[in-house]
Amino acid sequence: MSKIYVFTQFGGPEYQELRERPVPRPGPGELLVEVRAAGVNPADWKIRAGAFGTRRTLPVGMGLEVAGVVAAVGDGGGGFAAGDAVIAGVAGGNGGFAEHTLVKAAGAVAKPPEVSFTEAATLPVAGTTAYDLIQHVELVAGQTVVVLGAGGGVGLMVAQLATAREAHVIGVASEAKRELVESAGAIFVRSGDGFPDRVRELAPGGVHLVVDLVGGDVLRAAAPLATDPARVVSAADPGVGELGGAGRRRNPEALAKVTEAVRRGLVAPYVTATYPLERAGEALAAVETGHAAGKIVVVVGRPVSPPR
Ligand SMILES: NC(=O)c1ccc[n+]([C@@H]2O[C@H](COP(=O)([O-])OP(=O)(O)OC[C@H]3O[C@@H](n4cnc5c(N)ncnc54)[C@H](OP(=O)(O)O)[C@@H]3O)[C@@H](O)[C@H]2O)c1
Repeated sequence: MSKIYVFTQFGGPEYQELRERPVPRPGPGELLVEVRAAGVNPADWKIRAGAFGTRRTLPVGMGLEVAGVVAAVGDGGGGFAAGDAVIAGVAGGNGGFAEHTLVKAAGAVAKPPEVSFTEAATLPVAGTTAYDLIQHVELVAGQTVVVLGAGGGVGLMVAQLATAREAHVIGVASEAKRELVESAGAIFVRSGDGFPDRVRELAPGGVHLVVDLVGGDVLRAAAPLATDPARVVSAADPGVGELGGAGRRRNPEALAKVTEAVRRGLVAPYVTATYPLERAGEALAAVETGHAAGKIVVVVGRPVSPPR
């Protein structure tokens, strides 16, 4: 048997629980992965809340991104073998907060030894999102990038990737995240009333890319900062199109690219807290506040660090 954290009904966190099930079998093109770490994302609780529809078969395994070790390979398993360390998004209908999960071999990448399982587990969702967002326009060295929600899981990686491209990065976040944002290479700007004016003071000529991870009024206030409305990209608000901007465009190479960036030290996922599988609910609650700092990771079968 194998443990998995699920929700049993669409709604609040009271429907989450740890269950046991038989170890799943990998189908064609799938890998059975012994999970070592799984990143926690806002999408985890949004799926549970029904924000993306309520048509999934219950119970639903929670957790979308994992790093672990291949335990078995389905037919056509993409060149992977048992014992390989891999990084992947979970296959549809599976959950990553689990002792075992299934992933699509075609979407998995080998985990470099230099990258820890905990860090690797932040890359299939948050890391690829950051990579895709920064690709929205061709950035020239010296151009200015504003990141809204710069102290969160995706925002910190966006700031680092933009810094690596020699952009001037302005990170908008709450005061508590000042040091975190600055350590990602960005100039800190306090969020809240008047933040666009504070950005304008630093970038009087306009901003070459606005990356939004907050949405709503924050996005609407920031969009006019861009030199061109098409230079606004949001992972948080589907309404960005009405402003002339666009949502994330997925690049199938993103996981390999961002993993390589981490291996080379250009991006360091900021894992600020880890929780054991039995406490996955606390990890989810920390992200559900909407004010997480960096990434929160559920660690399976390994020692964990207390939240900072
Ligand atoms: N489309 C996709 O494929 C995709 C993929 C990944 C994520 N997303 C979405 O992108 C968003 C961010 O994801 P994430 O993983 O980075 O979330 P996260 O780790 O929870 O970070 C969100 C950040 O937003 C900040 N924030 C909240 N209100 C703010 C405000 N008024 N001004 C400035 N910052 C504010 C919070 O920090 P403060 O405490 O400083 O406010 C927090 O650090 C979520 O909506 C998520 O669902 C979409």
